[in-house]
Amino acid sequence: MRPFYVTTPIYYVNDRPHIGHAYSTVAADVLARFQRLRGRPTRFLTGLDEHGLKIERRAREEGLEPQQFVDGMAPPFQRAWEALHCSHDDFIRTTEERHEQRVQVLWKRLEAAGDIYLGDYEDWYCVGCETFYPERELADGRRCPVHKKPVERVKERSYFFRLSRYEKKLLDFYEANPDFVRPEGRFNEVKAFVRGGLRDLSVSRTSFHWGVPVPGDPEHVMYVWLDALSNYVTALGGPADPEEAPLFDTFWPPSGQVVHIVGKDILRFHAVYWPAFLMSAGLEPPTQVWAHGWLTVDGEKMSKSLGNFLPPEPLAEAFGADVLRYYLMRDIVFGQDGDFSHRKLLARYHGELGNGLGNLLHRMVRSIVGRYLDGRVPHVADDRLEPLDRELVASARRLATRAAEQLDAVAPQRSLDTIFELVADANRYVDRTEPWKLGKAGNHERLEVVAYVVLEVLRFLSVMLWPFMPERCDALRAQLGLPPLTPRPGVDLWPSAWGALPAGTEVSPGDPLFPRWDERKQRDVLASLGVRDDEDRMTANEATKNGPKNEQTPQDPSAEGIAHIVYDDFARVQLRVGLVTEATKVPKADRLLELRVDVGEPEARTIVAGIAEHYAPEEIVGKRVVVVANLKPRKLRGILSQGMLLAASDDSRLCLLEVPCDLPPGASVS
Ligand code: ME8
Ligand code: MG
Repeated sequence: MRPFYVTTPIYYVNDRPHIGHAYSTVAADVLARFQRLRGRPTRFLTGLDEHGLKIERRAREEGLEPQQFVDGMAPPFQRAWEALHCSHDDFIRTTEERHEQRVQVLWKRLEAAGDIYLGDYEDWYCVGCETFYPERELADGRRCPVHKKPVERVKERSYFFRLSRYEKKLLDFYEANPDFVRPEGRFNEVKAFVRGGLRDLSVSRTSFHWGVPVPGDPEHVMYVWLDALSNYVTALGGPADPEEAPLFDTFWPPSGQVVHIVGKDILRFHAVYWPAFLMSAGLEPPTQVWAHGWLTVDGEKMSKSLGNFLPPEPLAEAFGADVLRYYLMRDIVFGQDGDFSHRKLLARYHGELGNGLGNLLHRMVRSIVGRYLDGRVPHVADDRLEPLDRELVASARRLATRAAEQLDAVAPQRSLDTIFELVADANRYVDRTEPWKLGKAGNHERLEVVAYVVLEVLRFLSVMLWPFMPERCDALRAQLGLPPLTPRPGVDLWPSAWGALPAGTEVSPGDPLFPRWDERKQRDVLASLGVRDDEDRMTANEATKNGPKNEQTPQDPSAEGIAHIVYDDFARVQLRVGLVTEATKVPKADRLLELRVDVGEPEARTIVAGIAEHYAPEEIVGKRVVVVANLKPRKLRGILSQGMLLAASDDSRLCLLEVPCDLPPGASVS
């Protein structure tokens, strides 16, 4: 099996880790865990980019020596990755001796190849990007095209790398390696950039000193991107002869497969400069550069000033690391931009994880096997399977194969689509076979088969979801009576053969994997995370409305999660007929409509409703709806909302409840 090497960008230490960094790191971790499960020799690297002018300045702002400053910034990153269950094999910091020494070796190789020369440099420099820009690429007012901040004129003697020499070689390489950059659209941008002509690259600086000294000319420090990109090789002990650097020999091409996970912001460095440096040094380029999209938070660019800078640890603590990992991989198509929303996270938590997966486990292990089958996995010979059973077995095997192909192709989100197809299939199967009825009727013969089929599917799922949610999957396995997964090189643990769950295994019903949160808990957690009021209310509403399609059925009264209320509880809720008289969109809130609703009082009420994605304002005026009239008024986006409308919804649709006759506004509903 070909060794697999996956990397994240090494992050600048001028800021603390946030959910954007976490996105890249979790994606790389999922890939690493998956390949380890397959038995492939696997290495996963992450780390920090600690040199350069930007870091030097930040350190000075803090009144610290640069080394002191970067030493203080490394632990927050290490803690964040630990809190997110990341399983990197190595963590490199570019100020480490092992790195500095190997970058100098690399430099000497570029020099020996005749690709380094001394010249004079003058151009515009953006410290935020650590990049030079020619005049024509600047934004208005001589500003950086990315940060829109003023650039600096830099004029100094500098070493150059003959990047212009590599134009043709790079284009030939792209041609020969059509999978080199993903997604494909971004590959086309890279090719167009190279075809547009490459200028030699300034690769040293003399005006500051926080960097790796250029061998033989210590007045110069190396350009921070040459220094940083090299980490992928220096962390393996390269460049060096095979016997000196066995890791490099194993994991770098030609023997290893290398996948660099990066954000689209730094694709050019990875897909143009990096392979050119490597070619010059006589080394192979990486196998693939995967440029994922950009994350916003609740529709806005993340920034400290907007107060939506999200550090990963509090989120992991509030929702559970695995749930956060799952959400990041589930909600955003890998390669496209996406939006982090607490509301959507909770909806997926309660919907797919709680009602979909957790409930499947819970009702089978506790309510069926625990109650009717003595808590043991029954023995079921293959010839007892009926067509309905065989259908689910076939679907499990087919979907397991497909999910693996998708992870091999770095499509974590698609892979989760596939995996949740299986969850849905299994829940449908339970609904159709109605095992609790079989149990009550004493039909143990058939019940054993149904239980075995579902338990076996759960075993499949415990492996397929493990790369995403290792801790929750081991907890699931414990309830099935199975040991945690411990990947070993050469042993493929991915499920394919049917029937590996041993008969007689004692199941061990435990706490729900994804317990349902009541509204109050949801509100408290969101408030503790500082989520704004309007988002918070929508969450409480939509998460509880969302996805109960796999909810416990009434035939299964033993199922937990249904808290009964008495009539008086219900009667406390005042429901009234309301006539919608006006409706307008709430500016900058995609989901909200501001309504005027007549509920038979002297004045119409203002109600803000999260329905703008489902109703146009003009569609809703004139409707007779059902209003919760005694809900405490709340401010949403600065508007005081005096009630709530009842609506029915599933994952994708939402319909307001309407009164089908012309009862007057204010009439009671009960
Ligand atoms: O560029 N959405 O470091 P950096 C998605 N040191 N991903 C995001 C993100 C967001 N909003 N914000 C950050 C550097 N990222 C260099 C890299 S590599 C040899 C040197 C992720 O701290 C994404 O992977 O600015 C992006 O490419 C990276 O963090 C940039 O991190
Ligand atoms: Mg950046």
